[in-house]
Amino acid sequence: MDTRFPFVDWFRNASPYINAHRGRTFVILMEGEAIASQRGEQLIQDLALLHSLGVRLVVVFGIRPQVQAALQKAGVAPRLVAGRWVADSAVMAQVEQVASHQRLWLEARLSLGLPSTPLHGVDLSVISGNLVTAKPLGVREGVDFDRSGEVRRVRAGAIEGLLEKGSVVLLPPLGFSSTGEVFDLDAADVAHHAAVALNADKLILLGESEGLANEQGALLRQLSPDEAEPRLAAAEQGGELARHLQAACSAAREGVARTHLLCWRNHDALLGELFTRDGVGTMITEHRYEQLRPATLSDIAGLLDLLEPLERRGMLVARSRERLEHEIDDYLVIERDGMVIGCAALHVFAQADIAELACVAVHTSYQGGERGERLVQAIEQRAHRLGVGAIFVLTTHTAHWFAERGFASASIDDLPLLKRETYNQARKSKVLIKALA
Ligand SMILES: CC(C)(COP(=O)(O)OP(=O)(O)OC[C@H]1O[C@@H](n2cnc3c(N)ncnc32)[C@H](O)[C@@H]1OP(=O)(O)O)[C@@H](O)C(=O)NCCC(=O)NCCS
Repeated sequence: MDTRFPFVDWFRNASPYINAHRGRTFVILMEGEAIASQRGEQLIQDLALLHSLGVRLVVVFGIRPQVQAALQKAGVAPRLVAGRWVADSAVMAQVEQVASHQRLWLEARLSLGLPSTPLHGVDLSVISGNLVTAKPLGVREGVDFDRSGEVRRVRAGAIEGLLEKGSVVLLPPLGFSSTGEVFDLDAADVAHHAAVALNADKLILLGESEGLANEQGALLRQLSPDEAEPRLAAAEQGGELARHLQAACSAAREGVARTHLLCWRNHDALLGELFTRDGVGTMITEHRYEQLRPATLSDIAGLLDLLEPLERRGMLVARSRERLEHEIDDYLVIERDGMVIGCAALHVFAQADIAELACVAVHTSYQGGERGERLVQAIEQRAHRLGVGAIFVLTTHTAHWFAERGFASASIDDLPLLKRETYNQARKSKVLIKALA
């Protein structure tokens, strides 16, 4: 009997992402609200799963709601200015206590290994320490913030050493000064500085918002810091969205390749963003002069400039201006500073469950920056949305590149009829196919 488990297909489809994330460094911020919620436990299990899959994890945790509750209980009413409290000794007493308690709680949850729990068999050591140095915010507009501080330095070398040994590094929103004092820090600021200092592959900010949306309310999957920053003006000053946006934009500008804004309330946010094609949140990335978008007729001249040298070298089939104009809706382009530096097309065939990925090209000056990869992913998403079950590509020079991206060798007989009829026997292109989930 042939029993099919949908999970197995899902697992197979996740394998490229598992491979891509192994050995990468992720800095993940869990705000205090997430930890206090029912989702807290599960998020911690998700973190342990990432660790098991070989991701090098630095987890920054927030403590705001917990400190607020503790202050209220202690009858302390701190002065709040622009989202930061004036951290006098009464406030700091609560901050230090809550941070220690939270750290112990997280360490305990990450140690849970009973056979009935998802963490069973995970050998996980969690390390925290004096890994962030701080400086005081000082006196601003006449307000002395006392021991409210900002990050001065993240001890990247020490953290690297811990990650190398396979530990998960836990960073509280606290910093230590050379005068031996403890400072209260903004957790998003700690996460941003840690990601930059470690040259992290990803900064993941788990907050209340589902990501950023356009005017119609549709989720924006990717923004440059220049596009995201104007939204700061509309966000409540010192509020979570403003703090996360600021951290994301700064991190992107300072070299963190990808910052993800995700909602911790969404059960699947963390793993969904990392292991599925479409993802669930908004990514801020400093391809700020670059935009991957559907092509329009005004791109034809740029496309011709991009393709002509590759056609001359026999890497691509020659395409006339008329043909490009006719098929322009099939194309995606990457535009950088007004120049088309990459493209790919998806040609759909009537009554066929298989579509053609064609004309994948990246300008020679920009090759090796994963632009080809991004184009293929975007075409796969388009094909998936159109309900196409598989895509094929014909190539003379680039079969290995496609094979490394999940395409398998196939024969001309696997192509849609129309394509078989027009197949150029003299060119002897190889046929490769990739099934889409
Ligand atoms: C194939 C192409 C689109 C890749 O674009 P890109 O932005 O450089 O791609 P990525 O950065 O995602 O991948 C780069 C990796 O692919 C490798 N690669 C590039 N061309 C390759 C080829 N023909 N065969 C195997 N690997 C190749 C690079 O060496 C690099 O590997 P590395 O990271 O281990 O050094 C680009 O090289 C190109 O435009 N080629 C000419 C056009 C072409 O052949 N198109 C396919 C026909 S449809």
